[in-house]
Amino acid sequence: MQHRENLVLIGFMGSGKSSVGRLAAKALGFQFVDTDQLITERTGKQISEIFETEGEESFRAKETKALEELSTRFHCVISTGGGAVLSPKNRSLLREIGFVACLSASEEVLFERVSRNTKRPLLQTTNPRETLSKLIEARGPLYAETAHWEIDTSAIPQTTAVEQLVEAAKEAFAWPQTC
Ligand code: S3P
Repeated sequence: MQHRENLVLIGFMGSGKSSVGRLAAKALGFQFVDTDQLITERTGKQISEIFETEGEESFRAKETKALEELSTRFHCVISTGGGAVLSPKNRSLLREIGFVACLSASEEVLFERVSRNTKRPLLQTTNPRETLSKLIEARGPLYAETAHWEIDTSAIPQTTAVEQLVEAAKEAFAWPQTC
C-alpha cells in the first residue's frame, strides 16, 4: 500500500517521538510538526494549563482539531501526543494522514525518561509509576491497532531508530531505493 507522504509518530510519553521525529524530518527533507506545539500555538496556552483550567476532554477536542488541520498537509513528520490514539476518530485520521510509525520502549525505560520531566499532567499523581503502568496497559492495543509499523527503542541508539524509521517511511511512500 502506498501511503500519503507524511510520517506520523505515535507512542507513549517518553518514547522519543519528538527527538526521533526531528531527526527523521531532517533526513526526509520534511517539515517537523508536533501536535502539542500546534495546540499551544493555536490556543496561546501550555498543555498543562489546558488540562488544569479546561480539563482533559477539552484538550482531546483540541488534539482532534489539530489532526484535522494536519490532514491536508504533505511532507510532514508529525509527532503526536501519547493519548492521540484514544478516540476511534483520531485513530482513523492518523492512518489517513500518512504512514503511522509507533515508537515503543519498555516500561522501565519509559519511566526513566518521563521522570526527567515533571510537566506531564497525566503523571501528576501520588504514584506516577503505577499510573504509567496502567496507561501503558490500556493504550498498548490502541497503538498496535493504529500503527502501520513499530520499533522498540529501548535498547538501540537513537541514530539506529532514526535510520530504520526513515527506511521504513521511504518504502511506505514507494520512493526509489538509493544505495
Ligand atoms: C499525553 C501526552 C503528552 C500530551 C498530554 C497528554 C497523553 O504528549 O499530549 O500531556 O495522554 O499521553 P507526549 O506524549 O509528547 O508527552
